[in-house]
Amino acid sequence: LAGLQTKVLGQKVHVYGSVDSTQTIAHALVASGAQEGTIVLAEEQTAGRGRMGRAWHSPSGKGIWMSIVLTPRVPVYFMPQLTLLSAVALCRSIQKVCQVEIGIKWPNDLLIKGKKVSGILLESSGEDERLKYVIAGIGISVNLTTEDYPEALRSIATSLAIESGQVISRELLVQTFLLEFEDLYALYMDKGFAPIRLLWEALSVTLKRPIRTSTPSGFIEGIADSLDDSGALTVITPSGEKIKIYSGDIELK
Ligand code: BTN
Repeated sequence: LAGLQTKVLGQKVHVYGSVDSTQTIAHALVASGAQEGTIVLAEEQTAGRGRMGRAWHSPSGKGIWMSIVLTPRVPVYFMPQLTLLSAVALCRSIQKVCQVEIGIKWPNDLLIKGKKVSGILLESSGEDERLKYVIAGIGISVNLTTEDYPEALRSIATSLAIESGQVISRELLVQTFLLEFEDLYALYMDKGFAPIRLLWEALSVTLKRPIRTSTPSGFIEGIADSLDDSGALTVITPSGEKIKIYSGDIELK
């Protein structure tokens, strides 16, 4: 990462060939004293993890499979805000590097023409109600071709190369993302979530759209209305009731 312009993120970079998951490696590095900003990158993951126990398809040399060590001393319940911040940084950096129309589906899936191109997984460890550390896992499907996807994923997943029609420099994208993330993270630490929330709302493909989500007590359908201060999604149901969704996944209708 010769052109990296960040001050903290990526000052230490660990690059691997094939790993099970960069998340697992990053957790182990923290246990042996890794500092904030340490980055783990791998060419391939054999057991890439997605949100909600799902697998993340990470073929060799085709994507950015990366984990970042963060040590924000903020309350544990601020985690969703960090997730949304990551999505904003990712969306802005992809917009800068590739000329594609991309938007954020709550909370942090990046979609191009309705198909997922990137995902974020935050894993944390807390202490005394404060976060001790967070591992931000970033997966970007950069140069995969349709053939690189198993049949079952082809209708729901895409890559930057497929959508832009060109091979994208992974190095440039990582550098652009880290700089974007560092700037937003500094803004967040200084001014709190309010400015991040505005940026997220402007990039969202979720707000004002009909959505559906399943909860332990059944399906909720309604119009996604806004983000609240904690990062929860407020949905207005057909009967006019306002319901907040704090976690999980939504389906755009
Ligand atoms: C999701 O959308 O479900 C989140 C996907 C996160 C994938 C990234 S790839 C790098 C890091 N290592 C992992 O095992 N997962 C994350």
